[in-house]
Amino acid sequence: MTLSLIIGIGIKRNGSHYKAVVKFSFCCVSYFILLSTILKLECRQSLRCGCMMRGGGRWICLILVGLLSLLTIEAYEVGLTFLNSAVAKGAVCLDGSAPAYHMDKGFGAGVNNWLVFFEGGGWCNNVTSCLARRDDRLGSSKKMLKTETFSGMFHNKPKYNPDFYDWNRIKVRYCDGASFTGDVEAVDPKTNLHYRGARIFRAVIEDLLAKGMKNAKNAMLAGCSAGGLTSILHCDNFRSLLPATTKVKCLADAGFFINGKTIIGTNHIEGFFADVVKTHGSAKVLSPACTSKMSPGLCFFPQNMVQYIRTPIFLINAAYDSWQIKNILAPGVADRKGTWRECKLDITKCSPAQLNVLQGFRQEFLHALTGFGNSPSRGLFINSCYSHCQTGIQETWLRDDSPLLGQTTIAKAVGDWYYDRGTFQKIDCPYPCDKTCHNRVFD
Ligand SMILES: *[C@@H]1O[C@H](CO)[C@@H](O)[C@H](O)[C@H]1NC(C)=O
Repeated sequence: MTLSLIIGIGIKRNGSHYKAVVKFSFCCVSYFILLSTILKLECRQSLRCGCMMRGGGRWICLILVGLLSLLTIEAYEVGLTFLNSAVAKGAVCLDGSAPAYHMDKGFGAGVNNWLVFFEGGGWCNNVTSCLARRDDRLGSSKKMLKTETFSGMFHNKPKYNPDFYDWNRIKVRYCDGASFTGDVEAVDPKTNLHYRGARIFRAVIEDLLAKGMKNAKNAMLAGCSAGGLTSILHCDNFRSLLPATTKVKCLADAGFFINGKTIIGTNHIEGFFADVVKTHGSAKVLSPACTSKMSPGLCFFPQNMVQYIRTPIFLINAAYDSWQIKNILAPGVADRKGTWRECKLDITKCSPAQLNVLQGFRQEFLHALTGFGNSPSRGLFINSCYSHCQTGIQETWLRDDSPLLGQTTIAKAVGDWYYDRGTFQKIDCPYPCDKTCHNRVFD
């Protein structure tokens, strides 16, 4: 990167004839695109740079590229490992391909510490929706990106990730469509759909045990979104697969999906989750204490089973979780006229009446947390942001301007809780009181 910058400056100095400027501009824009991909900035940023290339904006671009190249150390890329040995166990993605994960090895004092994080990406609830994702990255390892950006709680530098930087950090790719809970033996030859998420979960853990996790001193099961739900549903299961001497805890980021009603008072997510559980044969891995009391579909909701979890667990969630607002509170089927469209994309665009409904959703969310209890082994970081997943990106995990709750970053709250330096159970004041939020704006 630095080298390219020097070359760029070189061209500029050697005479500012047209060709060199075009070449430099091209480089500059390319780097912007490259950098914004790495940094996951929006495409608009690169286009803006493209515009600035006309006239004297070159130097602005140069300075920005320089600054951005300094910022790139906030994240780095890690390659994909295919778990080919899992195929013989029938632990496969929707299309029958091998599961896969990204792993960055632990080092120094962290060699025997393991963070096993499961990726999210919604769910498929029936043959139609599972077929729709069978041949994309959420249903097939053949389509997964070959590298993944590690940042936030995956970072390997103490400055960005003080408590887990030297751990073995694994991000498991999502490719089963049911939060790694499915286990159906039969494969319909017409669709070739495999519902085997629970087998993937087990195969991944067994593989990691063989790679050294059997000697783990510390281990944490984590995940975000549908992967956060994996962490909740599989928490005790994970504990039981690890040696009794290992200190095991679970962390669910944006995984506390509530059985909420829609803006028109209908049940939408309840039927959807019931379909997911039925299609994927998930009942077997759900909490028996829950399934003995209610239908398996309801036991897919954390609020109905979280009280039975025995392993220490930490929930990070926005009370106005943007995925839940978009898909549980105001899904398209409940908003035929699209009056919620703008508000769902950007919370600042919500009308006072819509904000009232959002406050109602927060109340429902907090009520659903009742069974979580306040045992010191349980952590709770419920902020009032419009967001979804706050651990895997630097800006919300730990940075100068990261979200705070009780003056504490997510990184510190989780670190203190994991290492028993302190407890953390906090619920933010209602929106828009929290000025530290990074509210999501969707295109
Ligand atoms: C499958 O689920 C989708 C929602 O994901 C729904 O729109 C569709 O009607 C369902 N199809 C069948 C055949 O039940």
